[in-house]
Parts: sequence; structure tokens; C-alpha cells
Amino acid sequence: MASETSDSTNSSLKGCVNVALSVDGFIAGKHGDLDWLNNHPPATDDDSGDMGFTQFLARIDVIIMGRTTFDVVVGFGKDVWPYGELPILVWTSDVDNVCIPDWIRDKNGVTAWPASSPQDLWNELESRENYKKAYIDGGKTIQSFLEAGLVHEFSLTRVPILLGEGIALFSSKDSTRRKLIHISTKFFDNGMVTSKYMIEDV
Ligand SMILES: NC(=O)c1ccc[n+]([C@@H]2O[C@H](COP(=O)([O-])OP(=O)(O)OC[C@H]3O[C@@H](n4cnc5c(N)ncnc54)[C@H](OP(=O)(O)O)[C@@H]3O)[C@@H](O)[C@H]2O)c1
Repeated sequence: MASETSDSTNSSLKGCVNVALSVDGFIAGKHGDLDWLNNHPPATDDDSGDMGFTQFLARIDVIIMGRTTFDVVVGFGKDVWPYGELPILVWTSDVDNVCIPDWIRDKNGVTAWPASSPQDLWNELESRENYKKAYIDGGKTIQSFLEAGLVHEFSLTRVPILLGEGIALFSSKDSTRRKLIHISTKFFDNGMVTSKYMIEDV
């Protein structure tokens, strides 16, 4: 079994994805709805209480988040803000119009970042910061970084539902084959299944 910390690339900064998705590959319903995920019964055999998310975040240095996902999580409110004080770069084509509430500004370094070249952002972070792990979140945003070869690890939690339509994790336009190394799979008694993978040779 491969180690989760083994290094398959020369890049010092690793992109990590951690999402829940339907069995047919959607991270949200057609209009961004998450009821199928939020209303799913919790697992009684999940010792962490959050499907290992806190443990995942403990390895992360910076979050790169699509503007739509940022707006959604900000909308949940400060009492359920899950990201602690991790710095966040909001990936957007309209940096002047990202609404960052004061309660996040106070504790997180939140910066709106022009969604142009994932590689340029990567170069900037590698030259400026000593970050090792970047959490990349949001459908379009994950697709952009995956296409640029900057996603190295996936944690995919399959929810036992077929949504039929919605926001897809993977783009049908990206025809690149990528070989994955399976790290682990954990089954929960509510039917959710979390599989971790590394991308080989990105
Ligand atoms: N199930 C899960 O675990 C999970 C995880 C994350 C998100 N979600 C859900 O997924 C939905 C959001 O996904 P999404 O795919 O719509 O959006 P997203 O990646 O969160 O955000 C899309 C926005 O990011 C910017 N952006 C990203 N890639 C870009 C590119 N290549 N070029 C230009 N701009 C780019 C644009 O912002 P501007 O419009 O500002 O230019 C775009 O509108 C939400 O409903 C969220 O709740 C679910």
C-alpha cells in the first residue's frame, strides 16, 4: 500500500481535493443544492464525527476555493465556519466583487485571486510561501487545477444516491487519462464510502 505522504512529483506544493459526490459524479445538484448531502443520515461508526475532515485540514496550509463555493460556505455563517484560520485564496475572474465578511477577514487571510493561470498561482505560492499542501475546492476550480496537472491527491466520499444531473466533479471536456494510486477505502454504516487516491506521475 502506498504511503499518503509519498511524493510523486517534483513540485514542493501538493494540490489536495476532498469532496463528497453522488455515485454518478456530482458534487451539487443542478442549482447548487446540497440537501442530498446535508440531509443524509450521519454514520454511527464515524469516530471522527466529521468523516475525517478535521484530520484532513490539519495537513493543509492554504485553501484555493472557487468563488461560488466560497459564497456558499460564507452563507452557512460564522458559527459553522469549518476552516479555522487557514488562509484562503478565492479563485475568481472578478477580484473586486468578492464579498468577504469582516468575521472571516479578522481571522483568516482571505484574498481574491484572478482566475487565469493555475500554474502562475502555483509558482507564486512556491516562491513566496513555505506551503506544502493546498486544498483545492469547487467544481470548476478543481477542474482547472486538475487540467493544469496540479492536483496530486483525492479524497472522494461517495454518497449512495444518483442525482441524474448537477455540477460534475470531472469535466467531460478533459479527455486526459490519469492513473491513480489507491491509498485507502473506508466504508461507513450510512452507506458513504471514502476512497483516497494519489495521481501517478503528474
Ligand atoms: N460536495 C462537495 O463536497 C462540494 C465541494 C465543493 C463545492 N461544492 C458545491 O459545488 C458548487 C460550486 O461548484 P462550481 O463548479 O459551480 O464552482 P466553483 O469552482 O466553486 O466556483 C466557480 C467560480 O470560480 C471562478 N472560476 C473557477 N474556475 C474558473 C476558470 N477556469 N475560469 C474563470 N473563473 C473560474 C469563477 O468565479 P467568478 O464567477 O467570480 O469569475 C467561477 O464562477 C456549489 O454548489 C458548492 O456548494 C460541493
